[in-house]
Amino acid sequence: MAARRAKISIVGAGTVGTAAAHWIASKELGDIVLTDIVEGLPQGKALDILQAAPIEGFDVNVTGTNDYGHSAGSDVVIVTAGIPRKPGMTREQLVDTNAGIVRAVMGELVANSPNAVFIILTNPLDVMTYVAFRASGLPRERVLGQSGALDSTRFRTFLSRELAISVEDVDAMVIGAHTDKDMVPLPSLANVRGIPVSRLLAVDRLDAIVARTRRAGAEITELMKASGFTAAGAALCEMTEAILKDKKRVIACCYYLDGEYGERDVCAGVPVVVGRGGAERVLDVPLSDDERDAFKASVAAIRELMTAVKA
Ligand code: APR
Repeated sequence: MAARRAKISIVGAGTVGTAAAHWIASKELGDIVLTDIVEGLPQGKALDILQAAPIEGFDVNVTGTNDYGHSAGSDVVIVTAGIPRKPGMTREQLVDTNAGIVRAVMGELVANSPNAVFIILTNPLDVMTYVAFRASGLPRERVLGQSGALDSTRFRTFLSRELAISVEDVDAMVIGAHTDKDMVPLPSLANVRGIPVSRLLAVDRLDAIVARTRRAGAEITELMKASGFTAAGAALCEMTEAILKDKKRVIACCYYLDGEYGERDVCAGVPVVVGRGGAERVLDVPLSDDERDAFKASVAAIRELMTAVKA
């Protein structure tokens, strides 16, 4: 009997959803179903990616649909469905609108793919991951938010460029909230093959890189007058690959905390071991006093925004 190919559904065929599909197809991780409420959009995006298959050599199917039924039996479901903040809209109104969308799509998606691992991308990310987790009724292990995978790759990119050392040898992590102000980059843990970057970089250079990491999304938006999407798509692909290949990768993910890092009943970015079961373990590592205070403040900011949703 032929082995069954993995199935990945991506809900929201916007810029990030499409970028994720592109990376996932090019890595041949499985068949992809793109879903959106806009008629024709996911179908067109899927065909566009599929027509690159002979050149890139990926033998997976990419389809687009407006029907959640076509997502049935997915192994991984990525949720990017949402609206961006519009002029005149308060942050609370955005939270409320996107929470409504996330709740509605999670209901449909869990019914169709009760065994999937879910990756949430809709912003504001930390609150939407909480809403998705609550709406899903699933064990927490199977609902992760993509935040730290993107913020960490940005941190690593800037360190690699500054040090003129391969990205493969530079490691660093960002935890906490997925916002400029409240993310918590961890420079004390940043290293080059185990060598702390503090031994390779002057303090002011490291500080500048941390500051640039915080504004990495804003820097792109200021330049191209729209949000970035390629790296965010790659971050979703990284998480998908870790799940499908059961790699036990350590990825900073937004995750429902139940005592880890001294927090409960909130979703925030922490280092997670990601494998076939989703979040298999949280690495609850001791932080320095400054880092702990920053994480606490970050979680407080998430909790404040959570008051806008009637979860
Ligand atoms: N079901 C399916 N798709 C939906 C739904 C829904 N109920 N509501 C909205 N969408 C789709 C939109 O039609 C759009 O194609 O979600 C897609 C979102 O794509 P973009 O607007 O291009 O947003 P993107 O840049 O990809 O970001 C995705 O992350 O930053 C957040 O707020 C942003 O929530 C958005 C998400």
